[in-house]
Order: sequence, then structure tokens, then C-alpha cells
Amino acid sequence: MIPAQIIRKKRDGQELTREEIREFVMGYVGGEIADYQMSAWLMAVFFKGMTKKETWALTETMLHSGVIADFTDVDGFKVDKHSTGGVGDKTSLIIGPLVAAAGVKVPMISGRGLGHTGGTLDKLESIPGFNTRLSLDTFKKQVTDLGVCFIGQTADICPADKKMYALRDVTGTVECIPLICASIMSKKLAEGIDGLVLDVKTGSGAFMKSRKESERLAKALMEIAQAAGKKVTALITDMNQPLGNAVGNALEVTECMDVLNGLGPADLRELSIELSAHMIVLGKKAKNIDSARKLAEEVLRSGEALKHFEKTVRQQGGRFPMSKAETTTSIKALRSGYVKAVEAEKIGLASLSLGAGRLKSDDVIDPAAGLILHKKIGDKVQKGEVLVTLYHGKSRSTEQARTMVLDAYELSAKKTKAPRLIYKVMQTKGKT
Ligand code: URA
Repeated sequence: MIPAQIIRKKRDGQELTREEIREFVMGYVGGEIADYQMSAWLMAVFFKGMTKKETWALTETMLHSGVIADFTDVDGFKVDKHSTGGVGDKTSLIIGPLVAAAGVKVPMISGRGLGHTGGTLDKLESIPGFNTRLSLDTFKKQVTDLGVCFIGQTADICPADKKMYALRDVTGTVECIPLICASIMSKKLAEGIDGLVLDVKTGSGAFMKSRKESERLAKALMEIAQAAGKKVTALITDMNQPLGNAVGNALEVTECMDVLNGLGPADLRELSIELSAHMIVLGKKAKNIDSARKLAEEVLRSGEALKHFEKTVRQQGGRFPMSKAETTTSIKALRSGYVKAVEAEKIGLASLSLGAGRLKSDDVIDPAAGLILHKKIGDKVQKGEVLVTLYHGKSRSTEQARTMVLDAYELSAKKTKAPRLIYKVMQTKGKT
């Protein structure tokens, strides 16, 4: 294989063979292909795209570049959920234990936050002692015994994706549907799952800003899952404002525990139930979505979901109480009106500026930092009322966060309506 020929072929918009993709990617993992060659190839893919066959070949190559969890000897269906990411998007912490309490096995390999969006691992690690660096054997044992386990991508799971994603991040080649599909699906397939529910976010705070783009991504992800013989459902859900009220790691864990205790914000509760219900259907614990929804509500109401959460935390070394921020600052409305928009990306960046996220992958997070939104789209606001409370260290400047929060809120004199939470459910081949 001559790397420059493969790059040229893609640059000219021709279809690569399975072997060419495999040799090129594995050559990169093995160090025979340089970063500059892979960068050129990724940019060629960015502009010329990939056929379904090529995307599947890339996914398979990435998947087999590392180890795959083998759950074939474990009874029951294994189902996971993947979200394309957003601000305040914390449903995994509720869904994992809830769906496990309903009898479906949930092996979750999650990621960290980068940029304005948060990551499940950072949220879980804000619980003192919580260990997400478990071996695949321990992961499998916990999924078998408890029904749910949360870990991060280890060095031996999809190493090709790990190396290529880091390069994509610094070469402007992240926002490319075939590359996103192969990256997400290789990691999900490595979990050894039978089924997958996709939460594809759409709106100002999402990766994909328009409904059309989000549906295109959902369809492409579903095609890969189907090619791999997995059952899949995708929900297109709103990210025009943060989900729930809490943004920031420990604050989000606390909000999840509120939902598990039967409280918490209505949007977070509703989306968690809906995603769980689709997982329960894929996991064959209910015949249809209505009975799955009832089962999800029942395990929440009975406290079984909360018990599963507490057991998972204990099993993975976590202990309460959560750490608390040193101080808080209130941001008050400068005028009266109805909330028309709460730009999720700006809220995410405000939380990041308080220390809740990282700009570079080696930045250290303040687990207690973040913010609570007191007003969401459709709410009435009086001048001087608190819009947002910031949680931060005493020495941290809050000026940037204040500017971003005030910028994120758009008020209107006219009454406004909250956006829909779920726009579409796609079950097979893009059908609703
Ligand atoms: N998340 C991933 O894991 N990979 C991508 O390419 C994009 C989002």
C-alpha cells in the first residue's frame, strides 16, 4: 500500500476498498503512517464523504483495532444509550440504573467533556472515590451482577479511534458524518451490546444545529448499527436550551439523584423516562412503548432505580457527600419579560469559565463548579429576579460567566412557549 495513493484516491472522490481503509488505518495505529498523512486523508474524507460501504469498513477496522467485550455467556439483552452530547445532558446517570432495575443489562462506556459540552465520566468522577478505570473483566462482572457499570474508553478499546479522534480535534475534521459514525459506533459495538438507543441532539447547543442535519446523522448511525446486526432506535431531541437546570459535574449528579428520588426538573425526568422506555423495549422487557414507559415509571416510583444507582456508586468506590462549591454568585435579570432563548452553548461556556470543564484535554476540573438555571424558555421574569446562580471557588473571577449568561438569555415582551423536547423517533431506516 502506498499511502499517498490512498489519499489521492479519496481526494478525487473515489470509493476506497475495505482493504485499503484497513491497511491505511492500521498503518496509522502501527506508526507507519504519519500524522500529516492521516490529517490529509481525514480532510479528503471531510470534503468527499464516504459511501455506506466505506463507513462500515472504517467502523469495523476501528472496532477490531482493539478488544471487544464478550457478553455472549451473560443472560439477557445488553442495551446502551448514546447521546451526541449537549449542555446539562445528564440522562445516562439516571437511565443506566433505571433500565438495569427494569431487568435489562446496561454496559456503558462513556466519554469526557470537551468544549462546551459535559461528559458522563467527569460527572461520575465528581462523586468522591468513583472509579471509572475498571478492567473489561471487572466491567463484565459488574454488568452481570448489578445490571449496570460505567467505565471510560481504555487504551485497548478502539485505539484507532482514540488516535484519530485526537488528530481530528486539532485538524478541523470533527464535524463529518462518516467519521462521527465510525467513531461513535466502533466504541458502542466494542461494548458487546445487542441494542442501542441513540439520543441525537438538535439545536443551538448541539453538534448538529438543524433538524435536517441531526436526522441525517441519526440515519447514518442507524445504518451502521443495523449493518452490525444490532437493534436500534434514534430519538431526535431538543438542545436549544440546557437539559434540566443544573450544569456542572457535582450539581448535575445531585439533579440526577433528585429525579431518582421522584423530584427534579420535568424535562430531564421526561426525557430519561422516554429513552429508558425505548431501551426496555429493545431489551425485550416490555412488548410496546406504553408498557415500557409504565415499567420505567414504576421502577422510579418504587425506589428500585435509586437503589441501583446507590449500589453502582458503592460498587465503583464512590461515597457521599458530594463536594460543595466555596461560594455562589447570583445573576439577576436586567429587565422584565418572557424567556425566549437560553443559548445552551453560551451557558456551557459560562460553566466552563468557572472551572467545570476543560479547554485542553489535560486541564483539571473543579467538580463542584457550575451553575443552576432558575428560568427556562417560556418562563416569566421580573427585572431583578435571579436568572442563574453560579457555583465557584472564592478566587475565581465570575465576570466572563456573568457576561455569557446575560448574553445567553433572550427576553421577549410577548409570551413564549417552551420548545418541544422530542421531535422525532426513528425506528428503522429513518421511518417514524
Ligand atoms: N463523539 C465521538 O465519540 N466521536 C465523534 O466523532 C464525535 C462525537
